[in-house]
Amino acid sequence: MSDKVDFKIVEGDNIKIPKHIAIICDGNGRWAKRRGFPRTFGHKAGTRPIEDITKSCLELGVKVLTFYVFSTENWNRDNEEVDFLMKLFTRFFVKLRNKAGKNIKVKHIGTTDNLSHKLIDEIKKTERLTENNSDMVLNIALNYGSRYEIINAIKNIICDRDAGILHENKITEDLISSYMFTKGLPDVDLIIRTSGEMRISNFLLWQSANAKLWITKDFWPDFNYEHLKEAIKFYSTS
Ligand code: IPE
Ligand code: IPE
Ligand code: MG
Repeated sequence: MSDKVDFKIVEGDNIKIPKHIAIICDGNGRWAKRRGFPRTFGHKAGTRPIEDITKSCLELGVKVLTFYVFSTENWNRDNEEVDFLMKLFTRFFVKLRNKAGKNIKVKHIGTTDNLSHKLIDEIKKTERLTENNSDMVLNIALNYGSRYEIINAIKNIICDRDAGILHENKITEDLISSYMFTKGLPDVDLIIRTSGEMRISNFLLWQSANAKLWITKDFWPDFNYEHLKEAIKFYSTS
């Protein structure tokens, strides 16, 4: 497949480009196992579609793209796998930073609790270096859990109320959105999940209240532009 974006997708009358696409990147382990490799091999292979799909979404005019790469529940996996993932994410943030010329603003969403200093440092450097980029926001949901995010928002709302900054009459949907990690960004229009699971897995519960859901049986490392096109067609026509 050519990595050049085929703009035919946007020519039809019925094609609408979602403002915010959020992807649950699932199936790396199974992808590797099918090939007789360790799960970590699948995680490494899973970084390529993140880069390819980011490039395609940028060219299609998607404003916000969120990848779910590690949940707050994923700490329960083998130490060895978690260690591998954390090192992979550290290198991945460095790589993203070096692609900042693409005018993409990179953001981490989730908690930094339990992340290594090195990873936190690379995240912060990447966020700083890309903060003025304005063509697209790329959220990396790493150590992310929607319930954690909601609890965090509630705590901050109560703090601000106690400090006299906020009155309960001012609590609206928009106000609550502004206490989420996705502050200032549009809600999710389209969720994509790979590897066939019909689950939300604690992902952007507040922000996806009105999102459409598209699921493919294919594993994340095999996800490509054809899948993205299918998902956008589904979004436009369903
Ligand atoms: C998704 O792939 C990546 C992470 C959650 C880190 P999995 O690791 O969940 O792969 P499967 O679902 O077990 O095949
Ligand atoms: C969680 O993946 C979501 C991510 C891809 C990061 P899992 O593969 O751990 O999800 P569940 O637990 O099977 O729903
Ligand atoms: Mg999985």
